[in-house]
Amino acid sequence: MKFLNKSLVVIFAVSATAAAIVAATADAQTKSSDAQNAAREKKQYFKITADGELMRPTDYRTWVYVGTPVTPNDMNNGKAAFPEFHNVYIDPASYDHYKRTGKWREDTILVKELVSVAGKQAVSGNGYFMGEFIGLEATVKSGRHFAKEPGNWAYFRFTDEAASRKGHLGNLASKAAALPANACNQCHQASAADDFVFTQHYPVLRAAKNFGSAIPENNPRDRGAKGTPKNNDMKDASAGSGDLNFDQSGRAALWQATQSTPASVQGTAVPTDQTAIFRYLKTGAYRRWNARESTSHPGRGPHTKLQAPVKTYMNDTLAASMQAENDRHPIGATSVKEMLKPDGSLTGWAVAIKTQNDSAAGRGWYWYEVTSTSDASEVPAIGNGVQGCVGCHAPGKDYVLTSWPLK
Ligand code: HEC
Ligand code: HEC
Repeated sequence: MKFLNKSLVVIFAVSATAAAIVAATADAQTKSSDAQNAAREKKQYFKITADGELMRPTDYRTWVYVGTPVTPNDMNNGKAAFPEFHNVYIDPASYDHYKRTGKWREDTILVKELVSVAGKQAVSGNGYFMGEFIGLEATVKSGRHFAKEPGNWAYFRFTDEAASRKGHLGNLASKAAALPANACNQCHQASAADDFVFTQHYPVLRAAKNFGSAIPENNPRDRGAKGTPKNNDMKDASAGSGDLNFDQSGRAALWQATQSTPASVQGTAVPTDQTAIFRYLKTGAYRRWNARESTSHPGRGPHTKLQAPVKTYMNDTLAASMQAENDRHPIGATSVKEMLKPDGSLTGWAVAIKTQNDSAAGRGWYWYEVTSTSDASEVPAIGNGVQGCVGCHAPGKDYVLTSWPLK
């Protein structure tokens, strides 16, 4: 008995010690891998100069590749705002951090390398096939460097635009200053699915979000499961966004006027006052304008579902300016976009009116949208310089996106 007890005690002691050692080792391992993660996720993959410019990113084709949206010129009136393939990469430390925490860390960088369409046929079938590298853009999240940018995201372009306008590509710039928020940031803020990043277009990032420290592509069950937008849900899949959510705090401010609106504007019959403009639109008087699209076509913004039909009308002031290919439209230039149901019935209107000569980063435009034909108060946006409108319209010539001549 005595002997047995003793040996049991010994066995217990040994196994307890072993368990303690195992636990301690496991603990140490978690701790050290936490420490390793933390250390690895601190690495910075870009350089900012003393003047706050971003040095042209290097080595990014060895980072994590997140996807290739394509906006071919031939589907965008011959001139896509971002031609044509967009190969997007994220630095590996930010990828790891996003995978573990579902958040973009301080010092995240995403690079978008533009590639031309070389042809539309290959032995595999018809499609769009890549040609040459034609441009480079990047976005960086840094509270240290870009505290004033919304979300601390700053946007950069390294493409030689002057050269590319002349038909050749030129060299990439060695560094670039952050572009104004209304040129880039605001569209990302208004329409990107995850904190300024367009994860709705990147399955690699959707699969990674909050995945932990394991490797998403090694999981055979992960095919199309996690957070994949349903094809019939345009809200998730849209580049723009179907229904922008006005109630989400932070976004709401995007839809408020940022500048006072003149009580009346010369050169247009359309009033700016909330009651008066609704009454005017209901009369349908704008339909007598000479410049109008002959049929409706699938629309892309603002709050109609992506692809819901729209039809645009322009008053004579805007039409003459479009015809003259002006870079800046005169006071009174007005467009009205009808938003329709598939059966052709009206669901509301979007209106833009130029209220001063200087476009002032979109503040020189009055923006209005109503999502009802019976209730004048269903107005998500009204007034000058509404950022949610401005940001998405920024790629247009003086904020007009519809191409001329009207179809
Ligand atoms: C009209 C809206 C809009 C504007 C304005 C805009 N972007 Fe984007 N951007 C997008 C969309 C949509 C994507 C994702 C799909 C794609 O690449 O077409 C994107 C993706 C990106 C990406 C890849 C990372 C990410 O956030 O998804 C970078 C980098 C980028 N844009 C840079 C810029 C820069 C630089 C500008 C200003 C010159 C700019 N963008 C202006 C809509 C916009
Ligand atoms: C998601 C991007 C997006 C947002 C946000 C957006 N628009 Fe547009 N808008 C477009 C596009 C794209 C067109 C061109 C026609 C089309 O495809 O619907 C357009 C066309 C228009 C037109 C016809 C004249 C033109 O520029 O082509 C008006 C008027 C207009 N939008 C008003 C507004 C107003 C007002 C807001 C804010 C409440 C707004 N838009 C927000 C994308 C957007």
